[in-house]
This record gives sequence, structure tokens and C-alpha cells, in this order.
Amino acid sequence: MSEPTPKPGTASTRLAAVWGSPIRHSASPAMHNAGFAALGLDWRYVAFEVAPERLAVAREGARAMGFCGVYLTVPHKVLALGLMDVLDASAEAWGAVNTVVFEAENAEGVWTPVGQLRSVTGPVRLCGHNTDADAIVRALRDDLLIEPRGARVLLLGAGGAGKAAALRLADEGVETLWLQNRTASKAAGLAAEIAQRFPAVDVRVGLPDTDVEILIHATSSGLKPEDPLPLDLASYPLARADGVYDMIYRPAETPLLRAARQAGCRTANGLGMLLYQGAAAFELWTGRPAPVDVMRTALVREVQGHPGESR
Ligand code: ATR
Repeated sequence: MSEPTPKPGTASTRLAAVWGSPIRHSASPAMHNAGFAALGLDWRYVAFEVAPERLAVAREGARAMGFCGVYLTVPHKVLALGLMDVLDASAEAWGAVNTVVFEAENAEGVWTPVGQLRSVTGPVRLCGHNTDADAIVRALRDDLLIEPRGARVLLLGAGGAGKAAALRLADEGVETLWLQNRTASKAAGLAAEIAQRFPAVDVRVGLPDTDVEILIHATSSGLKPEDPLPLDLASYPLARADGVYDMIYRPAETPLLRAARQAGCRTANGLGMLLYQGAAAFELWTGRPAPVDVMRTALVREVQGHPGESR
């Protein structure tokens, strides 16, 4: 069956985008464009390679061009905190921004997503949200089939994605959380924040000296084919984890997930997390319920059709 020809983009086409570096292999355009098409919306979602030093310039370009929404990925999620005009409670709570909603005042003077307004006359502001944090909890439950509450968790990575996951899992009531990061001081800073905000959680820096229920990989090492495994298996054998979640979704089975499967662990890749946070972003931008099944099918097709690597 041939693909329907998309309508040409015009001045009334609504624009959303993903910005990151590297971005070439992002599967999120397939997911969002399929969602827009399923609802008959004249929207487009495009991937842009944006270096961190150009993020502020990109922000002003998007504001001037009437963008409705932007999704942020590596390495922008923490940097963006200081570049928003206003932060939603989710970005405040989880310390990172992955979804930007462009807003303007409606006729009653209420700030409203630009994508839900007929026209925009006044100033536009950028509101930063975090939809990653809830998505990791849902992915652990639905895809890895492990309940995070009360679990012992080893988290690799303390960048934007790792930080949001750590804070959200602490809020969810994990029992013990080990934070392992290349830059140990970043893991220590995050551990101090968790200890202060979630005193019931036993938080430690480094590798566990015991088994864990969940191991989560949240670094960007593995986005390139030549990257080494993100964990020294001699220091922490994967057989010590019941389940391993890799936020990378391409290839569907990363070297870490393959090793985990061979060690007898339950495994899941980052596809579910991408889908759940993407569906939440879709709803924030458009104000319409996301067609999750359509978006999932498009994502799986995109990832299976192009064996690049991405998160
Ligand atoms: P994101 O917002 O997607 O988390 P980020 O904030 O740039 O992106 O974080 C990247 C994460 O991957 C960090 O934990 C980073 O470790 P550092 O804090 O030491 O920078 C980790 N990371 C990136 N490249 C890595 C590599 N080659 N080896 C190990 N960890 C790496």
C-alpha cells in the first residue's frame, strides 16, 4: 500500500520539532507525524541538529517563526532549565526540561499553548515541562514488568535523563538507589539532593554490593556504534539485576541489553519511554488525546526499518 502524499506545509501549518546533538537517527518525527496525520491535524514535526551553544539562538528563531512545541534531547535537558521563560511544576520537580510548550495569551488573558490558539498577536513565552520522569516509571511497570516502589535500583548516568529518572524514582518510593556516573561529583550532587528531598530513600554513589531489582542505563554512551558498554561487567555482573532497562531504543537490542538477556535478566529498551513521554508532549502541544497505538506502530516501524542508534 502506498503512503498518502502529505499536504504541502503552508503558513498555517503548525510546527513542532526535536532539537539535539546527535539527532540524525531520532525516531520521534515518525511517531509525532503519524499521530498528527491520524487526527487529521495540519502539523509537522521535524528533527534539527542543534549544538548546545546554539540552543538560545534556536529558541529565539523558533519563537519568531511561530513554533508550537519543541522536544529536547541530549545534551539540552538541563541546560534548557535556564533558558525557559517559565517552568511547569514537572520541570521544577525533576530538574530537567524535555518538552517546551510555546504559549501566548488568549482573549481572556490566560497563557495558552500556541498550538491551541487560532491566532497569536501578543508576546510568546516558552514553558518548560518534563514528561520523561513519569514515562520511566510507566516503562518500568508496563515494559519491564517490575514495580519500582520498594525496589533496589542501580542507575547509570546523572545527566538530564538520569537526574529526572533518579528524582522521580525517589518520589515513587524506591528502597535503595545507587547512582553511578562518569563524573562522580555529578552523581554525588544528585545524591545529596535526593537525600535532602526524599529522606526515606537510601541513596548511594557508586556500584551496589548487593543484587538489585532494576538496572537503568541513562547515559548517552552507546549512541555511537563504537561506544563501550556503559558498565564494567567485572565490577558488577548483570546477573545481579532482575531487570535491565536501556533508555536507548536503537538498535532494539543494545550490547548492554544483549548481555543482560544472556545473563538471564528481564530486559526492555527505551522505545516505551519515548512513546509515553512523546504522547504526553503531543497532548500538551495540541490539547488532543494522543493516538498512542498509531504512534507506537509508527515508532516500531521506524526503528525496525532503520538500524541506526538513538535515544
Ligand atoms: P541527557 O539529557 O540525555 O541525559 P546529558 O545531560 O548530556 O544528556 O547527560 C549525558 C549523560 O551521559 C551523563 O551522565 C554523562 O556523564 P558525565 O556526567 O560524566 O558527562 C554520560 N556520558 C556521556 N558520554 C559518556 C561516556 N563516553 N561514558 C560514560 N558516560 C557518558
